[in-house]
Amino acid sequence: MSTQAKFNIPMDRPYIGEEEKQAVMRVLESGHLPQGPVVKEFEERFADLCDTKHAIATSSGTTALTTALMASGVEPNDEVIIPPFSFVATATSVLSARANPVFVDIESDTFNIDPTKIEDAITERTKAIMPVHLYGHPAQMEAIKAIADKHNIALIEDAAQAHGAEIDGQPVGGWGMAGFSLYASKNMMSGEGGMITTNDDDLAENARMVRNHGMHQRYFHEIVGFNFRMTDVMAAIGVEQSKRLTEWNTKRSDNAEYYNQHLEGVKVPQVRDGYTSVWHQYTITVPEGSDRDTFVQKLQDRGIGAYVFYPLPIHCQPMLRDQRPTCDTPCVHGFNRECPDLPMTINLTYRVVSLPVNPFVTDDERDYIVETVNTLAKDL
Ligand SMILES: Cc1ncc(COP(=O)(O)O)c(C=O)c1O
Repeated sequence: MSTQAKFNIPMDRPYIGEEEKQAVMRVLESGHLPQGPVVKEFEERFADLCDTKHAIATSSGTTALTTALMASGVEPNDEVIIPPFSFVATATSVLSARANPVFVDIESDTFNIDPTKIEDAITERTKAIMPVHLYGHPAQMEAIKAIADKHNIALIEDAAQAHGAEIDGQPVGGWGMAGFSLYASKNMMSGEGGMITTNDDDLAENARMVRNHGMHQRYFHEIVGFNFRMTDVMAAIGVEQSKRLTEWNTKRSDNAEYYNQHLEGVKVPQVRDGYTSVWHQYTITVPEGSDRDTFVQKLQDRGIGAYVFYPLPIHCQPMLRDQRPTCDTPCVHGFNRECPDLPMTINLTYRVVSLPVNPFVTDDERDYIVETVNTLAKDL
């Protein structure tokens, strides 16, 4: 940021209030730090928020997704369909379950997996589809569920960014299994942490086993499981945060609405009819051919915590070098805009910019963001 910038507006402002501090102190004073009664309370509250029968707390969003995949019956060498336009954990959670990610392109308006392209990617090894509710906007779950049911494959929502997002008034998290992240920058958080939700008793029981060394009865391990548990210390923060989620999501939504009405020269994010985004990110798209990176740098120089989520799609990441289907261009530093694979993902990767939309952005900061974006957008 330049020293002359009028504001310094971070992308995220994790909130830690007196309630969080006191809740953590109560756990520390109780002497019981690992998974215990506070995790149970947090799970009950989270299930209420998602209107699901079960919520199962884990150590992170990544372990929530891996646990959900394994609990849904994904086995080594199975294939799991995911979008490449996401945080890397969407793919690494699949790799942790020793399965292979298969990438399907996204739709332009919501940045989410394109349901019309999913069936072409299904093979006899496909065991699950894992759409992502990216930036807090739900994927097209009705259409995706119909495909999963038709092919008898599991459905797992990567809801890491979508606490409280809704489709027709129903919160996400209940379509099969879902994994949420409670990392510090999320709409609600526990520092690190994750949560699985489902309405299915058997899947919930499987997930509890995977989370805890594959055992029901102590020291008898029925399936391969791990230590993916949450601590009561983390859960104490999560309990307090869950009480404020609705208020914070409303504030994010007000900010987003304000940007939608006032930004010029860039494409503002779209919300599908009947869907409610929780605006984990507010992501604009610059016109094709613009110098997006210089635009972002100028915003940052002016004290606006603008950011690109994500600068390199997952299928172009060096870690998956050997699995790229047709593209052999090295994508390690910057990537090939002409890459033929997954064209919508490639196109949007070099056009998206996220602006601070967190609930603590003030009215003055909002005005400043609008004014600065609109001025800079004239040069795009
Ligand atoms: C889309 C998505 N999936 C999965 C994860 C993984 O969550 P965690 O960082 O809690 O492991 C994240 C976290 O940012 C995410 O954004």
